Amino acid sequence: MERKTVFSGLQPTGNVHVGNYLGALRNWVALQEEYDCIYCVVDLHAITVPLDPASFNQDRIDAAKVLIAAGVDPERSLFYYQSQVPQHTELAWILGSITGTGQLNRMTQFKDKADRAGSNLGLYSYPVLMAADILLYRADAVPVGDDQKQHLELTRDLAERFNHRYGEEFPIPEPIIPETGARIMSLQDPTSKMSKSDENEESRILVLDDADVIRKRIKRAVTDSGSGIRLDWETKPGVSNLMEMLSLFSGMSMAEIEAEYGDSGYGTFKEVVAEAVIEDLAPIRRAYGELEDGEVARLMQRGALDARTRAEGFQQRVRRRVGLTG
Ligand code: TYM
Repeated sequence: MERKTVFSGLQPTGNVHVGNYLGALRNWVALQEEYDCIYCVVDLHAITVPLDPASFNQDRIDAAKVLIAAGVDPERSLFYYQSQVPQHTELAWILGSITGTGQLNRMTQFKDKADRAGSNLGLYSYPVLMAADILLYRADAVPVGDDQKQHLELTRDLAERFNHRYGEEFPIPEPIIPETGARIMSLQDPTSKMSKSDENEESRILVLDDADVIRKRIKRAVTDSGSGIRLDWETKPGVSNLMEMLSLFSGMSMAEIEAEYGDSGYGTFKEVVAEAVIEDLAPIRRAYGELEDGEVARLMQRGALDARTRAEGFQQRVRRRVGLTG
């Protein structure tokens, strides 16, 4: 039986944090066992906010390295930089031509980012490029965190609209969103999600942070003025977030955590969480240290060549459907 196709992407801005890791990356790695996986460092999405070109290239390499160190295997999966495969942007234009602006106006991430960084056309049409990333390879499934749900809905709508207008071409992709870990919260404000763009670096833990930084971040994590380790997102969002992290990093269930640490003080509990995070992330940090930039650049170039070959065939079919042949 032919394997189903998985596609996902990550922006190379800032560095990969435990939200990215628990919400998406761990699934990317696991899915390689069963699916035909395509993973992309989406550099064109990243430039929709102002960036320093001098450091951006290094950011791209660093992001690729973290993903490989965490287990994305370029021998098994197609892995490359989005900007090196021009079919993404061509398909985005075609899909943009069937996207209503009313629908784009409703995208909550656009509204948030535009409020912070100012609006531009790239930011506005960002979800259309994301739809093109996914549909270009006829992906069946897309592993993402909770914050990408709305973008996935748009992708599914566009696939249906295209199929209706031009003939059956795209499968309707399913999101793969983990039951726990889909929305890891900020350590400083546990009512908003952990984010690369948060100005306060104490709000997140990076996959590459060393043990001391991880201990410090968790020690300073905002909790509440009560006591008791209990899962309660309403009144104890900070503690609940730490419990979720402990569960995912240690494999313990929530019931086991409550039974074992229910009566512990926050200080002691935080130490337990920190050690579980440190232990799980240590091998990634080690693997990262062993990868060389030049080697990764070569892998990414090879990935782009393979991706272009595959994308070209698919894109020919789209062109034919739309009447852009010859
Ligand atoms: P990005 O780079 O912001 O994030 C990468 C992945 O991490 C997930 N994520 C989180 N999960 C749990 N808790 C959090 N606090 C958290 N923060 C981020 C995101 O949901 C994402 O899965 N638009 C995408 C990139 C993209 C893409 C695509 C994804 C472009 N094209 C095609 C899938 C398919 C983004 O900005 O991800």
